[in-house]
Amino acid sequence: MWNPDITKHNGARYLAIADRIAEDIEHGNLRPGEQMPTHRELASRLGVTVGTITRAYAEAQRRGLLVGETGRGTYVREDLFADAFPPNLAAHDDSIIDLSLNIPPVSVGDQLGQSLSATLASLSNRSNLSSLLGYHTPNGAERHRAAGAAWVSRSGLKAEAERVLITSGALHAMTVVFSTLTKPGDTIFTESLTYPGMKNLAHLLHLRLQGLAVDEHGIIPEAFERACRSGAVRVLYTIPTIHNPLGTVMPEERRREIARIAEEHDISIVEDDVHSFILERPPLPLSAFAPERSYYILTTSKSIAGGMRIGYLLAPARMIERLATGLRATVWMAAPLMAEIVSEWIKDGTAERLVEQKRKEAEERQEMAARILQGLRFRAHPLSFHIWLELPEPWRSDEFIAQARRRGVLVTPPEAFVPAREEAPHAVRVCLGAARTRAQLEKGLKTLRELCRSTPKPTLSII
Ligand SMILES: Cc1ncc(COP(=O)(O)O)c(C=O)c1O
Repeated sequence: MWNPDITKHNGARYLAIADRIAEDIEHGNLRPGEQMPTHRELASRLGVTVGTITRAYAEAQRRGLLVGETGRGTYVREDLFADAFPPNLAAHDDSIIDLSLNIPPVSVGDQLGQSLSATLASLSNRSNLSSLLGYHTPNGAERHRAAGAAWVSRSGLKAEAERVLITSGALHAMTVVFSTLTKPGDTIFTESLTYPGMKNLAHLLHLRLQGLAVDEHGIIPEAFERACRSGAVRVLYTIPTIHNPLGTVMPEERRREIARIAEEHDISIVEDDVHSFILERPPLPLSAFAPERSYYILTTSKSIAGGMRIGYLLAPARMIERLATGLRATVWMAAPLMAEIVSEWIKDGTAERLVEQKRKEAEERQEMAARILQGLRFRAHPLSFHIWLELPEPWRSDEFIAQARRRGVLVTPPEAFVPAREEAPHAVRVCLGAARTRAQLEKGLKTLRELCRSTPKPTLSII
């Protein structure tokens, strides 16, 4: 029987109950299609009036969480996750738990939806609303660039609005930068394991990737320096803060050293900082130590929502016009309506509140992973949405992935992160954000733990 704790909430009690409904759906304690207690039952359980429950259920219905049918009762909406991505989560099918995609948790009826609905309502009262549907300059409207500069400044970087370009997410910013800085056939330095989107992009732009050795602090300066001596490579793509997939954070001293080497060998730095938002006090970006050769990238798709797709690219002033040509040639401009919503959220503090919510969720999911996977070897940052699970002997990653899939759990194969033809390590990436609910995540992680503790079973019958 559903029995929420509303004692810790100050404010209207009907709102506390509606908030608990949202929370319990997210955590898997209330499931799609489940019948809610009657108004009278819940009122007596919580010691509130029937009217309070009626208002709470009405509020939850307004948020799209519940449906009420006269004479039949109140239910958690069946199709709550129908539009969720990845699509195999949509069919509220608990037999598949997808931990393979690095996406922040899908939220329902929460702060995100409420903020969007409030902002859209307030926008709808603007007299010049249609200006958001016109063509703007490719670089982005001035106020959007100013909001972007403010968001970038959270990192400690000095960011003037004129040096910020608005893109359609981080991958788009990378597309613009690499198509501006490189030509087909060029080689790019990356970490020895890198973000798979960079591999896709390299393929598209006919670039080669060369992985650099890393340790627990990121790229090893000596390895970078040695590789630079060939003189053939001009660009480094790196994720110094909460690396995907390793979760490492490069200390400041090493950032200085990497920047110095880049300076000495005339290497441009493309700094992908999309996961740093989750840290309350992120380290100063690598770009701060070599601003004249750095291209710094942030995106709202991680910090706010995957469909928001507004990226910020901070670049050297001398390169802005050339990069704008790349913007024009790809999407002409990022959608101004989306940039407007994000700008409002940056200004009024909504963006920061959404980040706090994600930080709390990431922390709790990482704690769950640490508890369940205790005794196994894995690398993770305590505030990231992914972990790198090193498989115990004698598991090979391909066998492990196949067995996990048979048990309904999907994880990312290591080959996805290997930049060139090197051997992939016997490890997998496990994404904690993709699981729809914490209950699902717990089940998925326990399955992986059991698998790690078992021995591989031959799956192939080869004659
Ligand atoms: C390191 C890194 N960079 C870029 C991206 C892509 O960001 P966006 O969705 O804004 O293109 C991701 C997404 O997982 C990522 O992990």
